[in-house]
Amino acid sequence: MRSHNCGQVNESLIDQTVTVSGWAHRRRDHGGVIFIDLRDASGLLQVVVDPDAVEAFKLAETVRNEHVLQITARVRPRPEGTTNPDMPTGMVEVYATEMVVLNRADPIPFQLDEDDVSEAVRLRYRYLDLRREPMQRIFRLRSSVTKYFRDFLEAESFVDIETPILTKSTPEGARDYLVPSRVHQGDFFALPQSPQLFKQLLMVAGFERYYQIARCFRDEDLRADRQPEFTQLDIETSFMNEDQIMAMMEGMIRGLFKSTMGIELDAEFPQMTYADAVEQYGIDRPDLRIPLKLVSVTDLMVDSGFKVFAAPANSEDGRVAALRIPGGSQKLSRKEIDGYADFVGNYGARGLAYIKVNDISTGREGLQSPIVKNLSDDALAGVIERTGAENGDLIFFGADKAKIVNDALAALRVKVGHDLDMVQTEWAPMWVVDFPMFERDEDSGRWTSLHHPFTAPKVDQMDELKTDPGKVLSRAYDMVLNGTEIGGGSIRIHQTDVQKLAFEALGIGDDEAEEKFGFLLDALRFGAPPHGGIAFGVDRITAMMSKVDSIRDVIAFPKTQKASCLLTDAPSGVDKTQLRDLHIRLSPAAQALKAEAAGE
Ligand code: AMO
Ligand code: AMP
Repeated sequence: MRSHNCGQVNESLIDQTVTVSGWAHRRRDHGGVIFIDLRDASGLLQVVVDPDAVEAFKLAETVRNEHVLQITARVRPRPEGTTNPDMPTGMVEVYATEMVVLNRADPIPFQLDEDDVSEAVRLRYRYLDLRREPMQRIFRLRSSVTKYFRDFLEAESFVDIETPILTKSTPEGARDYLVPSRVHQGDFFALPQSPQLFKQLLMVAGFERYYQIARCFRDEDLRADRQPEFTQLDIETSFMNEDQIMAMMEGMIRGLFKSTMGIELDAEFPQMTYADAVEQYGIDRPDLRIPLKLVSVTDLMVDSGFKVFAAPANSEDGRVAALRIPGGSQKLSRKEIDGYADFVGNYGARGLAYIKVNDISTGREGLQSPIVKNLSDDALAGVIERTGAENGDLIFFGADKAKIVNDALAALRVKVGHDLDMVQTEWAPMWVVDFPMFERDEDSGRWTSLHHPFTAPKVDQMDELKTDPGKVLSRAYDMVLNGTEIGGGSIRIHQTDVQKLAFEALGIGDDEAEEKFGFLLDALRFGAPPHGGIAFGVDRITAMMSKVDSIRDVIAFPKTQKASCLLTDAPSGVDKTQLRDLHIRLSPAAQALKAEAAGE
């Protein structure tokens, strides 16, 4: 089919005859001479067809964009003034002597170099979208990312082992995708939310170091960085503690950025406790590229007559926090400040108080704000001191339930940081450690796992598992990059009795534990080694490296925000016989919906 790839044809081949195959990327008719940019996976090559090559020229006149061609041609230098040094093949062109149309293409629904094609159209014709150069670049990068991971881990004696897709529920906090069993009436498989339990069993099995590039399935609300099926680099080790695992994984990620992008990340990733992260950044995945920090002023507002601040300051789950914006007093207009007040409204905040610091030396006279009149001299002085405010700064305040204040100010800090060009470095990796084991579910009031129920508690807190679960910290660690959680892991519970205590704290009784996780409890009894691991989000890492906003752009055939595939139209209805074989009947409501959709 070809003697050379398009992208390889260069000056070293001048005067030689080559055969190339690919797609007609662009055809230009210059009255008398036809130029075709021929594209294959390796790049673009300029083909010249003139009427002297009678047959080829006749065909070239009928060629449309995206026809598939095979061309035999002589390589020659491009005429002076028409060279393109930015293209690998930009110094040459090929003069066609023979052409074969291998396949024709209907007019395509969008041109490959169009910028504003809607995502719906791109996903409907994903195979065309993937022909675009930026998409090709992303998937080649993705391939080098997974290759790097494999090479690194194989060199460290990790074993690649596949785990089941048709399995039992593995709880990671999302809803399961279920698959009905034909053979076992009324029973269902669950698709794995992660290989968590199997990788632990592989440690019991004595492999000591396991990895897998594993597909995971989670039926949860989708966002730009969440897909219903996504890919983890899943890792588990035996006989390593958290410091050792974190050091090895940090080295792996550093090596990844160095080898695939030539980027040097920090020599040592900073570590921050969960408590500090929430206190200073309002979130457990701080974006450390931005130097702004939250400062608690709750205690200063307890006696304040200003109800907006005093009420949360006196409530157990309330928080009043300040965010100092250096130079913000001049840099932010009234209109922009109002805009930020609207912005924090998206996070449930009911307002965004602020103080412009004009002249500290004159006390309250030098502070400009609708709320200054409501605050005592002491409170004002305390705020200035604690935030370290200087003349020209602006201080924002959030006052509400701690969760609302944290969510709102965490988002505001990142937004203002970007708006005011405060981003300090391109890459800010870090670890968050010392997570609580459990958090209260607002609705049920029950404890739920912050990570998953197999995460080990701190060694010295075993007793508190029983007495005060809310106080117990776990041996978990998350890797965060630029405010995105790219990986999460922990040391696991490897003793049956501790695992039972953890289940108890979660309100999972013996019977339920036996039914759902009996196989794990059994395995832990037969000489389970101390073990721990981590899983990285391959899609998220690739998206960040590719500088795209959504992981949909780094998944070849992704789902939409509504968890459907526009290309295949999945999910879709199935035959009645299939349903019958699976012992399933649709509810009347579902039947009515389907009938309506079918226009019946
Ligand atoms: P976790 O649930 O933190 O841990 O997942 C690990 C990493 O996977 C990525 N991720 C996702 N990426 C895209 N779409 C999603 N819906 C999605 N959910 C998670 C994130 C995350 O950091 N079994 C544990 C790991 C362990 O303890 O070893 C687990 O699954 O980047
Ligand atoms: P008000 O007394 O409601 O007019 O509010 C005075 C100032 O406080 C305004 O700038 C509001 O935006 C701000 N504000 C009101 N509620 C809150 C809140 N929960 N957190 C922070 N600022 C608030």
